[in-house]
Amino acid sequence: MDKSMTQAWQESVDFWNRVYELPEGGEEEETEGAEADWKALAPSEKQLLAITELTECRQLLDYGCGQGWGSVIAACAGCPSVTAVDVAENGARCAALYAGQYGVADRVRSMRIPENWLESVEPGSYDGFFCSNVLDVVPTEVAESILAGAARVLRPGSKLVISLNYYMEPKADPARKISVRDSCIFIDGVLRLNSLTDGEWRRMLEKYFRVDSLTYYAWPGEQAERRRLFRLTRL
Ligand SMILES: C[S@@+](CC[C@H](N)C(=O)[O-])C[C@H]1O[C@@H](n2cnc3c(N)ncnc32)[C@H](O)[C@@H]1O
Repeated sequence: MDKSMTQAWQESVDFWNRVYELPEGGEEEETEGAEADWKALAPSEKQLLAITELTECRQLLDYGCGQGWGSVIAACAGCPSVTAVDVAENGARCAALYAGQYGVADRVRSMRIPENWLESVEPGSYDGFFCSNVLDVVPTEVAESILAGAARVLRPGSKLVISLNYYMEPKADPARKISVRDSCIFIDGVLRLNSLTDGEWRRMLEKYFRVDSLTYYAWPGEQAERRRLFRLTRL
Protein backbone atom coordinates (compact mmCIF):
# COMPACT_ATOMS: atom_id res chain seq x y z
CA MET A 1 0.00 0.00 0.00
CA ASP A 2 1.43 3.39 -0.83
CA LYS A 3 2.35 5.84 1.89
CA SER A 4 -0.53 8.21 1.37
CA MET A 5 -3.09 5.41 1.70
CA THR A 6 -1.38 4.17 4.87
CA GLN A 7 -1.62 7.69 6.23
CA ALA A 8 -5.26 7.96 5.16
CA TRP A 9 -6.02 4.75 7.06
CA GLN A 10 -4.17 5.96 10.17
CA GLU A 11 -6.04 9.25 10.11
CA SER A 12 -9.33 7.42 9.82
CA VAL A 13 -8.44 5.35 12.91
CA ASP A 14 -7.75 8.64 14.76
CA PHE A 15 -11.18 9.76 13.60
CA TRP A 16 -12.84 6.63 15.03
CA ASN A 17 -10.85 6.95 18.21
CA ARG A 18 -12.32 10.43 18.71
CA VAL A 19 -15.82 9.14 17.93
CA TYR A 20 -15.52 6.57 20.75
CA GLU A 21 -14.00 8.94 23.29
CA LEU A 22 -15.74 8.47 26.61
CA PRO A 23 -16.82 11.56 28.51
CA GLU A 24 -14.89 12.22 31.70
CA GLY A 25 -16.18 9.82 34.36
CA GLY A 26 -17.96 7.83 31.63
CA GLU A 27 -16.46 4.61 32.85
CA GLU A 28 -18.26 5.02 36.18
CA GLU A 29 -21.66 5.64 34.58
CA GLU A 30 -24.82 4.25 36.16
CA THR A 31 -25.44 0.72 34.92
CA GLU A 32 -28.73 -0.22 36.56
CA GLY A 33 -31.46 -1.40 34.20
CA ALA A 34 -29.22 -1.62 31.16
CA GLU A 35 -29.25 -5.41 31.06
CA ALA A 36 -32.83 -5.58 29.79
CA ASP A 37 -32.19 -3.51 26.69
CA TRP A 38 -29.40 -5.37 24.93
CA LYS A 39 -31.47 -6.12 21.82
CA ALA A 40 -31.93 -2.40 21.27
CA LEU A 41 -28.17 -2.01 20.79
CA ALA A 42 -28.41 -3.33 17.23
CA PRO A 43 -28.91 -0.62 14.61
CA SER A 44 -31.35 -2.91 12.76
CA GLU A 45 -33.47 -6.02 13.35
CA LYS A 46 -31.69 -7.86 10.55
CA GLN A 47 -28.30 -7.27 12.14
CA LEU A 48 -29.68 -8.43 15.47
CA LEU A 49 -30.92 -11.64 13.88
CA ALA A 50 -27.60 -12.26 12.13
CA ILE A 51 -25.57 -11.79 15.31
CA THR A 52 -27.85 -13.98 17.38
CA GLU A 53 -27.30 -16.74 14.80
CA LEU A 54 -23.61 -16.56 15.73
CA THR A 55 -24.32 -17.57 19.31
CA GLU A 56 -23.86 -21.19 18.18
CA CYS A 57 -20.16 -20.28 18.08
CA ARG A 58 -17.97 -21.08 21.07
CA GLN A 59 -15.27 -18.48 20.39
CA LEU A 60 -16.49 -15.45 18.53
CA LEU A 61 -14.21 -12.68 17.29
CA ASP A 62 -15.76 -9.20 16.87
CA TYR A 63 -13.18 -7.57 14.64
CA GLY A 64 -13.11 -3.73 14.62
CA CYS A 65 -15.67 -3.79 17.43
CA GLY A 66 -16.04 -0.02 17.88
CA GLN A 67 -18.31 0.45 20.89
CA GLY A 68 -18.75 -3.30 21.04
CA TRP A 69 -22.51 -3.51 20.54
CA GLY A 70 -22.12 -6.70 18.48
CA SER A 71 -20.05 -8.35 21.20
CA VAL A 72 -22.53 -7.41 23.91
CA ILE A 73 -25.47 -8.74 21.91
CA ALA A 74 -23.68 -12.00 21.12
CA ALA A 75 -22.71 -12.50 24.77
CA CYS A 76 -26.18 -11.57 26.08
CA ALA A 77 -27.74 -13.95 23.56
CA GLY A 78 -25.63 -16.81 24.91
CA CYS A 79 -22.22 -16.87 23.22
CA PRO A 80 -19.86 -18.04 25.98
CA SER A 81 -16.68 -16.32 24.78
CA VAL A 82 -16.42 -13.17 22.71
CA THR A 83 -13.21 -11.34 21.87
CA ALA A 84 -13.80 -7.70 20.93
CA VAL A 85 -10.84 -6.05 19.26
CA ASP A 86 -10.16 -2.69 17.67
CA VAL A 87 -7.10 -0.71 16.66
CA ALA A 88 -8.71 2.34 18.28
CA GLU A 89 -8.02 2.41 22.02
CA ASN A 90 -11.34 4.10 22.79
CA GLY A 91 -13.25 1.45 20.86
CA ALA A 92 -11.80 -1.30 23.04
CA ARG A 93 -12.49 0.79 26.20
CA CYS A 94 -16.10 1.39 25.18
CA ALA A 95 -16.60 -2.30 24.48
CA ALA A 96 -15.32 -3.17 27.97
CA LEU A 97 -17.60 -0.56 29.50
CA TYR A 98 -20.66 -1.81 27.61
CA ALA A 99 -19.90 -5.41 28.51
CA GLY A 100 -19.85 -4.42 32.19
CA GLN A 101 -23.03 -2.39 31.91
CA TYR A 102 -24.88 -5.25 30.27
CA GLY A 103 -23.67 -7.83 32.76
CA VAL A 104 -21.47 -9.85 30.37
CA ALA A 105 -17.97 -8.73 31.38
CA ASP A 106 -17.13 -12.36 32.12
CA ARG A 107 -17.89 -13.36 28.50
CA VAL A 108 -16.41 -10.42 26.59
CA ARG A 109 -12.68 -9.83 26.47
CA SER A 110 -11.87 -6.53 24.80
CA MET A 111 -8.49 -5.36 23.57
CA ARG A 112 -6.81 -2.67 21.60
CA ILE A 113 -4.79 -4.44 18.92
CA PRO A 114 -1.99 -3.52 16.52
CA GLU A 115 -2.86 -3.55 12.82
CA ASN A 116 -1.19 -6.93 12.19
CA TRP A 117 -2.61 -8.63 15.30
CA LEU A 118 -4.39 -11.40 13.34
CA GLU A 119 -0.99 -12.67 12.16
CA SER A 120 0.02 -13.32 15.78
CA VAL A 121 -3.10 -15.31 16.71
CA GLU A 122 -2.88 -19.11 16.84
CA PRO A 123 -4.48 -20.50 13.64
CA GLY A 124 -7.96 -21.93 14.19
CA SER A 125 -8.51 -20.09 17.49
CA TYR A 126 -12.05 -18.97 16.62
CA ASP A 127 -15.20 -20.48 15.15
CA GLY A 128 -17.16 -17.27 14.59
CA PHE A 129 -16.37 -13.86 13.14
CA PHE A 130 -18.41 -10.69 13.25
CA CYS A 131 -17.20 -7.63 11.38
CA SER A 132 -19.52 -4.67 11.05
CA ASN A 133 -18.63 -1.72 8.85
CA VAL A 134 -14.90 -2.16 9.12
CA LEU A 135 -13.79 -3.60 5.78
CA ASP A 136 -15.48 -0.76 3.94
CA VAL A 137 -13.91 2.08 5.91
CA VAL A 138 -10.33 1.00 5.21
CA PRO A 139 -8.20 0.87 2.03
CA THR A 140 -8.71 -2.26 -0.08
CA GLU A 141 -5.27 -3.62 0.86
CA VAL A 142 -6.15 -3.40 4.56
CA ALA A 143 -9.51 -5.11 3.95
CA GLU A 144 -7.74 -7.88 2.03
CA SER A 145 -5.26 -8.43 4.81
CA ILE A 146 -8.05 -8.55 7.43
CA LEU A 147 -9.85 -11.20 5.37
CA ALA A 148 -6.68 -13.26 4.96
CA GLY A 149 -6.09 -12.98 8.73
CA ALA A 150 -9.68 -13.95 9.49
CA ALA A 151 -9.37 -17.02 7.29
CA ARG A 152 -6.22 -17.95 9.19
CA VAL A 153 -7.67 -17.66 12.70
CA LEU A 154 -10.97 -19.39 11.86
CA ARG A 155 -11.46 -23.14 11.83
CA PRO A 156 -12.99 -24.70 8.68
CA GLY A 157 -16.78 -24.53 8.93
CA SER A 158 -16.70 -21.36 11.07
CA LYS A 159 -19.54 -18.89 10.56
CA LEU A 160 -19.05 -15.24 9.67
CA VAL A 161 -21.29 -12.21 9.50
CA ILE A 162 -19.89 -9.23 7.64
CA SER A 163 -21.87 -6.05 7.28
CA LEU A 164 -21.05 -3.27 4.88
CA ASN A 165 -22.36 0.18 4.05
CA TYR A 166 -24.23 0.63 0.80
CA TYR A 167 -22.53 1.27 -2.51
CA MET A 168 -22.16 4.92 -3.50
CA GLU A 169 -20.65 5.96 -6.76
CA PRO A 170 -17.29 7.50 -5.85
CA LYS A 171 -17.75 11.06 -7.06
CA ALA A 172 -15.98 14.17 -5.85
CA ASP A 173 -18.11 17.06 -4.61
CA PRO A 174 -15.91 19.92 -3.38
CA ALA A 175 -18.93 21.87 -2.09
CA ARG A 176 -19.63 19.02 0.35
CA LYS A 177 -15.92 18.49 1.05
CA ILE A 178 -16.07 15.09 -0.65
CA SER A 179 -12.98 13.88 -2.47
CA VAL A 180 -12.27 10.55 -4.08
CA ARG A 181 -9.29 8.32 -4.63
CA ASP A 182 -9.82 5.06 -6.49
CA SER A 183 -12.82 3.46 -4.77
CA CYS A 184 -12.34 5.47 -1.55
CA ILE A 185 -14.53 8.40 -0.53
CA PHE A 186 -13.07 11.02 1.78
CA ILE A 187 -15.19 13.52 3.69
CA ASP A 188 -13.32 16.55 4.94
CA GLY A 189 -10.09 14.70 4.19
CA VAL A 190 -11.00 11.60 6.23
CA LEU A 191 -11.44 8.21 4.55
CA ARG A 192 -15.03 7.31 5.36
CA LEU A 193 -16.04 4.73 2.76
CA ASN A 194 -14.33 2.27 0.47
CA SER A 195 -17.18 1.97 -1.98
CA LEU A 196 -17.05 -1.39 -3.72
CA THR A 197 -19.91 -3.12 -5.51
CA ASP A 198 -21.56 -6.32 -4.28
CA GLY A 199 -19.65 -8.23 -6.96
CA GLU A 200 -16.29 -6.79 -5.92
CA TRP A 201 -16.90 -7.68 -2.27
CA ARG A 202 -18.12 -11.12 -3.23
CA ARG A 203 -14.94 -11.83 -5.20
CA MET A 204 -12.77 -10.80 -2.25
CA LEU A 205 -14.78 -12.88 0.22
CA GLU A 206 -14.95 -15.96 -1.98
CA LYS A 207 -11.18 -16.34 -1.84
CA TYR A 208 -11.61 -17.87 1.62
CA PHE A 209 -15.30 -18.21 2.38
CA ARG A 210 -18.52 -19.60 0.97
CA VAL A 211 -21.17 -16.92 0.63
CA ASP A 212 -24.29 -18.42 2.26
CA SER A 213 -26.40 -15.32 1.72
CA LEU A 214 -26.31 -11.64 0.93
CA THR A 215 -29.23 -9.66 2.32
CA TYR A 216 -29.89 -5.96 2.64
CA TYR A 217 -30.89 -3.86 5.61
CA ALA A 218 -31.47 -0.24 6.56
CA TRP A 219 -30.59 1.87 9.55
CA PRO A 220 -33.43 3.65 11.36
CA GLY A 221 -34.72 6.52 9.25
CA GLU A 222 -33.47 5.10 5.93
CA GLN A 223 -36.16 4.39 3.33
CA ALA A 224 -34.43 1.71 1.29
CA GLU A 225 -32.67 -1.43 2.49
CA ARG A 226 -29.32 -0.98 0.78
CA ARG A 227 -26.75 -1.87 3.43
CA ARG A 228 -25.20 -5.26 2.90
CA LEU A 229 -25.11 -8.23 5.21
CA PHE A 230 -23.06 -11.24 4.16
CA ARG A 231 -23.42 -14.57 5.94
CA LEU A 232 -20.45 -16.80 5.17
CA THR A 233 -18.76 -20.07 6.05
CA ARG A 234 -15.00 -20.63 6.29
CA LEU A 235 -14.10 -23.17 3.62
C1 LIG B 1 -17.32 2.30 11.26
S1 LIG B 1 -16.51 1.75 12.68
C2 LIG B 1 -17.48 0.31 13.02
C3 LIG B 1 -17.45 -0.09 14.48
C4 LIG B 1 -18.38 -1.24 14.86
N1 LIG B 1 -17.96 -2.49 14.30
C5 LIG B 1 -19.80 -0.91 14.48
O1 LIG B 1 -20.40 -1.62 13.67
O2 LIG B 1 -20.34 0.04 15.05
C6 LIG B 1 -14.99 1.07 12.06
C7 LIG B 1 -14.07 0.52 13.15
O3 LIG B 1 -13.01 -0.22 12.53
C8 LIG B 1 -11.82 0.02 13.27
N2 LIG B 1 -10.68 -0.33 12.41
C9 LIG B 1 -10.19 0.34 11.34
N3 LIG B 1 -9.16 -0.30 10.81
C10 LIG B 1 -8.98 -1.44 11.51
C11 LIG B 1 -8.06 -2.54 11.44
N4 LIG B 1 -7.14 -2.63 10.49
N5 LIG B 1 -8.17 -3.51 12.37
C12 LIG B 1 -9.11 -3.45 13.34
N6 LIG B 1 -10.02 -2.44 13.46
C13 LIG B 1 -9.95 -1.45 12.56
C14 LIG B 1 -11.93 1.49 13.65
O4 LIG B 1 -11.08 1.84 14.70
C15 LIG B 1 -13.42 1.59 14.00
O5 LIG B 1 -13.66 1.31 15.35
